[in-house]
Amino acid sequence: NPSITMPPQVAWASGALSGAPLIQKTTHLGDLNNVFADDDAWRCCDPTLAVYRVDMFDTPSGEGELYTGVTHLNPGRVGNEFFMTRGHFHARREQGEIYFGLRGEGLLLLQDAQGQTRLEPVRPGSVHHIAGFTAHRLINIGSDMLSALAVWPSVAGHDYTALSGGFALRVTADTLKLMAKEVQNG
Ligand code: PA5
Ligand code: NI
Repeated sequence: NPSITMPPQVAWASGALSGAPLIQKTTHLGDLNNVFADDDAWRCCDPTLAVYRVDMFDTPSGEGELYTGVTHLNPGRVGNEFFMTRGHFHARREQGEIYFGLRGEGLLLLQDAQGQTRLEPVRPGSVHHIAGFTAHRLINIGSDMLSALAVWPSVAGHDYTALSGGFALRVTADTLKLMAKEVQNG
């Protein structure tokens, strides 16, 4: 007889993971020192406010293994700047990653090794191929939770220090207005 194993689940509409042990990590505003441009605005915010939570399945690590996780990024701003993840290059720079938009309205900010940036809209059903050597950050530009599923090599690791001085592009309400104009003008 074939052996049948029930796999864990992701609820597409909410990004809720179930059916296997999870690791959860919440990042609060107080953890995001030097991440937002407006330091005075950051200081005025409640440091205990949760900005995002990553839920991931507690699966094996090692060469060839893949991790699966969901980032739930709250709506909000620090000054004019939308809530976002810290963002990172992979410690092993050549390792890529795939993001899938599940709910909410956001942007994926990508920055290559030369400092060139680009944005991809994140929405339910969007598929984002993050090539190796590319830093990535999620930004919530909506008024609801942004949730995105990610799959990445367990050996990739996170390098948060390379971009600790900030990404080359910041996304504020003004950025969105400029983007809308660009789309109109073709
Ligand atoms: O693997 C990823 O790229 C994601 O799961 C991120 O780690 C997650 O979105 C949290 O962002 P950061 O690790 O930059 O804090
Ligand atoms: Ni990553």
